[in-house]
Amino acid sequence: MRSNQMALDYSQSPFQPPAQFVKALARSLASLNSYPDPSYRLLKERLAKKHGVLPSNISLGNGADELIDLITLAFGNRILIPTPTFGQYELAAKRHNRAYRRINCLLEEKFSLANIKEPSNAASLIWLCNPNNPLGMVIQKKEILDFAANSKALIVVDEAYADFANESVASFTKKQSNLIVLRTFSKGFGLAGLRIGYMIADAGIIAKIEAARQPFNLNSMAAAAVPIALRYENMFAKMREMIENNRDAFIVRLKKIGYRVLPSSTNFVTIKLSNPMEAKNLFSFLEKAGIRVLSPWNEEFSGMPRNMLRISIGTKRQMDSVFKALAKFKKI
Ligand SMILES: Cc1ncc(COP(=O)(O)O)c(C=O)c1O
Repeated sequence: MRSNQMALDYSQSPFQPPAQFVKALARSLASLNSYPDPSYRLLKERLAKKHGVLPSNISLGNGADELIDLITLAFGNRILIPTPTFGQYELAAKRHNRAYRRINCLLEEKFSLANIKEPSNAASLIWLCNPNNPLGMVIQKKEILDFAANSKALIVVDEAYADFANESVASFTKKQSNLIVLRTFSKGFGLAGLRIGYMIADAGIIAKIEAARQPFNLNSMAAAAVPIALRYENMFAKMREMIENNRDAFIVRLKKIGYRVLPSSTNFVTIKLSNPMEAKNLFSFLEKAGIRVLSPWNEEFSGMPRNMLRISIGTKRQMDSVFKALAKFKKI
């Protein structure tokens, strides 16, 4: 990447982790001669407490991405992918040669599960991304829970961005045994480089994933980081608040100059252009200005409308520059 380029593509945090977190984590460097505890017992206890479940309801992964692979391998005989959505569900199905089908759930700028009129045994696994990536919006809890209650398939709710939405169905996995919740420290905690993901589900489902995973799938630094990150959770929350403030101010400004912006409960915003050609032109315009955003023709997404672009939220200064470029594109 050129040093003057702005990477607003992969929805990562623009901020370094809190200094206290880095300092505490650095102490773990001295133990790198040892393997981590392969049961990850302490981490599971801490995460179980956070979500009001039991340690036997948690499994960890080398990023949520690894768990997407493991879930696909363990349960993905017939996969249904409601779109638009995150691209890894489809890429994992392809990697592992699993049958999958996409179904469009975007109706008039709203993501609706009402479009899925499947016979109850048509799929073994259904991927829901909530808040949705790339749309940014939230599917209501009740809609998800009703959907899960009426389905025989396993329903994975990928809550990668849930820290920004302050809503989760994690505790419902206790009652709804076909519900799996996927989480990550990459977004709300801004720790994408550590690669820490986890899933919350019925103990029977977790046992199958535990049997399938590699013994040391989280390295020692990632394993050490979990309890430390949870200890400093309020500091990460403050960073999240800054990103949310930058996002909300950016949305207001964009609307003022006539951009159509979808509502966002994440660390990115998605804008809707009048047609795919305009989206292509704007993408190239931003690229020339040194601003990288994500486009619908990127493998990152399945079924994203071709007239949309996704912009990750950076620092205030970065968002000022992006706003200026977007205003210039409109010749304002
Ligand atoms: C919806 C969604 N799920 C999962 C992931 C992957 O998360 P991780 O960094 O934990 O692998 C991402 C990353 O962009 C994402 O957007």
